[in-house]
Amino acid sequence: MGTSMFEILRRDGLARIGRFTVGDKVVETPALLPVVNPKICTVPPRELHDRFGFNALITNSYIIRNTPALKEKAQAVGLHEMLDFPGVIMTDSGTFQSHMYGEVEVTNEEIVEFQKSIGTDIGTVLDVFTEPDWSYEKTKYSLETTLERTAKACEIKGDMMINGVVQGSVYPDLREYSASRMADMDVDVHPVGGVVPLMEQYRYAELVDVVMASKKGLNPSRPVHLFGAGHPMILALSVLMGCDLFDSASYAKFARDDRMMFLDGTFRLQDMQTLDCSCPACQGMTLQGLRKMDKNKRTKLIAEHNLYQITQELALVKRYLREGRLWELAEIRSRAHPALLDGLRRLKQWQDLMERYDPISRDGAVFYTGPETRARPVYLRYAERLKTRYIPETKKAAVFPDTSGKPYSRPYAEEFAKARRAGYTPVVASPWGPVPAELDEMYPLAQSLFPDMPDRETVEESEALTQEFLLNVFDESIECSEIPECEGDDVDADKIRAKAVARFQFGIEAAEALFREPVELVTSKKTGKIRNVISDGEHVLSMRAGDGLYTLRMEGAKRIVAAVPAPFMRVSVMADAVPFVSEGRNAFSQFVLSCDPEIRPMEEVIVTDPEDRPIATGRAFLTEFEMKSMKKGMAVKVRSGSDDE
Ligand code: GUN
Ligand code: ZN
Repeated sequence: MGTSMFEILRRDGLARIGRFTVGDKVVETPALLPVVNPKICTVPPRELHDRFGFNALITNSYIIRNTPALKEKAQAVGLHEMLDFPGVIMTDSGTFQSHMYGEVEVTNEEIVEFQKSIGTDIGTVLDVFTEPDWSYEKTKYSLETTLERTAKACEIKGDMMINGVVQGSVYPDLREYSASRMADMDVDVHPVGGVVPLMEQYRYAELVDVVMASKKGLNPSRPVHLFGAGHPMILALSVLMGCDLFDSASYAKFARDDRMMFLDGTFRLQDMQTLDCSCPACQGMTLQGLRKMDKNKRTKLIAEHNLYQITQELALVKRYLREGRLWELAEIRSRAHPALLDGLRRLKQWQDLMERYDPISRDGAVFYTGPETRARPVYLRYAERLKTRYIPETKKAAVFPDTSGKPYSRPYAEEFAKARRAGYTPVVASPWGPVPAELDEMYPLAQSLFPDMPDRETVEESEALTQEFLLNVFDESIECSEIPECEGDDVDADKIRAKAVARFQFGIEAAEALFREPVELVTSKKTGKIRNVISDGEHVLSMRAGDGLYTLRMEGAKRIVAAVPAPFMRVSVMADAVPFVSEGRNAFSQFVLSCDPEIRPMEEVIVTDPEDRPIATGRAFLTEFEMKSMKKGMAVKVRSGSDDE
């Protein structure tokens, strides 16, 4: 024990697959901690570990302390032996009991010391639960108490890890304030608290505001725990917002009330028509059989069913996260309940923040699931970059419909050539809005699938974007059917594409430096696609076939460093790390001195030494905020170091 460490292994949206090290134990996140009531143990902790694979649980130190037999045993043999659980044990402090039943008879210092005395891995401060109906003033006042208690807990925590709980009722500015104060303290986990009433009342739009405002202020190098959340229906959305840990008491509480959890809600056994569940607990069981079963046996079976629902969904969430498709899963899940749809819709108001963490490209295609898909950060990013990083080749546009397949320059090869001969820039009116022909192979434009029958939002919004683009960028635009025949040589479309993608990816200034004449393009003999950009005899860029974006070569990096002042595209590392990174080893966050605040995950970056000399190129894995805070893990996946060239 003694140290905790959180490392990000994969990411999508604000979500992360992380490795949370607690002493000598490791928890892979996102993870759910089942709540064990030490007096009841509906499903014994040993079974939770061995049969269900949970390697972390949460129990309540306040209940243990108030139950003489448990208190004595816990202090004598320790919590792990008492519960017979070899994994990570988190304990809560009694805050929730005070929310449910009023005052608790324990001080912050007493409960922190008690948690230490029973060998808890991660203890919790006695925070003040801020109710959703509290006034702003009352909430603000109580936050200071929680902050003072947290500071005290950090002082006396010893070898135990500590949960510093973010409170702030439904007020986003108080949540952010509370979070940023917690970020500056020596806490190990960041729970977002006071949200149980919001979830019980299906107030998911407010839940989204609360979580996002908290995330804004929190330290990204610590796992975020959504306190009291464990229903399978909200996992995808919560993970997407960057919650790493969850806990569920409901699996057992609901079971004692004969209520079964499913992805689309919770249902009473007496109201159900069929038991159409194929989880291991329900296998071979009928509704009648379950109703007739002995109460204790039934409670255990339903608790197990509830746990299976949660673990199955969590596994699916992780799969989508790894595949870069978590937005899609959150959208699909939001159809299960109108309140969830409200949550997802509210997330659109946090699109700017989400955009800063959204990867530049993904392995899979963007699947459109409905109008809410338009709230994804990829939309915002495309629209903004098109405004600031696109320069048309000619001032006349010819507009094509998006009806012939992608990438557009394949089915429209002849028409695009004809338009260009006549001095027109081909522009496709797509569901993304306008797509100039030269950008059509680039992520996410070619790597996206939309239904053939568009909804009204898509039609209206994309048409408005296209009209605005045509008016702002061109002097004149015509329909593709009106293009005049023109004799003469074909325009070099590859060259236009090569530079347009570079501008889009690196900005106009950097693209200028990368495309110093004479420029020669190497294309694939098999596909005809651009492979390499040779500028003035130097190989500066290579284009990836998969996402149509560039990888930056060392020669290109040197050009950019010479042309655009720091911190543009830079990740500067300490002198100690320079020999390693120059050899092509990855750059780790603990060695980062500074970096460009505009860097997005998966973006091409230039690793520089402390004197701003380029030493490697690679792809950023973290944002600036994360590089500054993470104590461990890869910051830049380095492709080639200066020594390799
Ligand atoms: N359990 C559920 N919500 C909370 C909370 O806000 N604080 C604590 N300590 N425990 C909780
Ligand atoms: Zn089941």
